Amino acid sequence: MKMVLLGPPGAGKGTHAKVLKEKYDLAHLATGDILRRHIKQGTGLGVKARSTIEKGELVSDILVNEMMFSEIAAIPREKGFILDGYPRTLGQAEALEEFLKKEQNPLDLVLNFETSEKVIIDRLSGRRVNPSTGRVYHIRNMPPRREGICDDSGEALIQRKDDAPETVRHRLKVYTDETSPLIDFYQKRGLLQNIPGDFDVPELQPIIVKLFEKLSLIS
Ligand code: AP5
Repeated sequence: MKMVLLGPPGAGKGTHAKVLKEKYDLAHLATGDILRRHIKQGTGLGVKARSTIEKGELVSDILVNEMMFSEIAAIPREKGFILDGYPRTLGQAEALEEFLKKEQNPLDLVLNFETSEKVIIDRLSGRRVNPSTGRVYHIRNMPPRREGICDDSGEALIQRKDDAPETVRHRLKVYTDETSPLIDFYQKRGLLQNIPGDFDVPELQPIIVKLFEKLSLIS
C-alpha cells in the first residue's frame, strides 16, 4: 500500500500515520520530522531549512524533492509507504509522479483530511511533542500520564515554535495557496479519497480501514 496523506497543518496526518504504519507494517516518511531531524543534527540541509520552518514557510522544492527521493529509494520494494506532508506544492507533486513512474512504483491513493479551521487551531495550540523522539500529545485529546512529561522517556514535552498562533495562521495561508491545489491534481488522477479530519482518532480509524477494504488494498 503506497499513499500520500494530504491536509492542512494539525489535520492529524502524523497521528493517523503512526497508527497505520504499525497496523500494516508500512514505512512512514514525514517531511516535517525528517527536516527537524536534520536541524537537530546540524546538517547542511538543516541549517538551510531552520529559519524557513520557524517562519511557517515551505522549504524549497529542490531540497525537499532530493531529500524525499533518497528516503523513498531506501525503502525495501516489498514494503508499502506513507508520505506524510509530501508533496506539498504542485512542483513537488509533479516531480514525485515522475520519480515513481521511473521506479515503476505508483501511488495507490491519496487520503485528504478535510478539517475545519476551528479544529486545527485547537489541535495545534494544544499540541505538545517530545523534542527527541517526535512523539505527539495533546493537552486535552491525548494527554500524557503526567502533565508535560513524555510517557516513554520521562523527558519534558515542548510546544513547537511553528505552533505559535501567528505562525499557525501563516501556515494555513501557505496551505491554501500552495498545497490545496493538489486536491484537484490527485482528483484528476482518480487517487483522491476525502476523509473527515475533524473526527476523533477512534472514530476515523475504522472509516479509513473500510476505505482500504473498498479499494481492495487489504482483504
Ligand atoms: P510538518 O511537521 O509536516 O507540519 P504540518 O503539515 O503543518 O503538519 P503538522 O505536523 O502540524 O500536523 P499533522 O496533520 O501531522 O497533525 P498531528 O497529527 O501532529 O511540517 C513542518 C514544516 O516543515 C512546514 O511548515 C515546512 O516549513 C516544512 N515542510 C514539511 N514538509 C514540507 C514539504 N513537503 N515542502 C516544503 N516544506 C516542508 O496532530 C496535531 C494535534 O492534534 C496533536 O496534538 C494531536 O494529538 C491532535 N490530534 C490529531 N488528530 C486528532 C484527532 N483526530 N482528534 C483529536 N486530536 C487529534
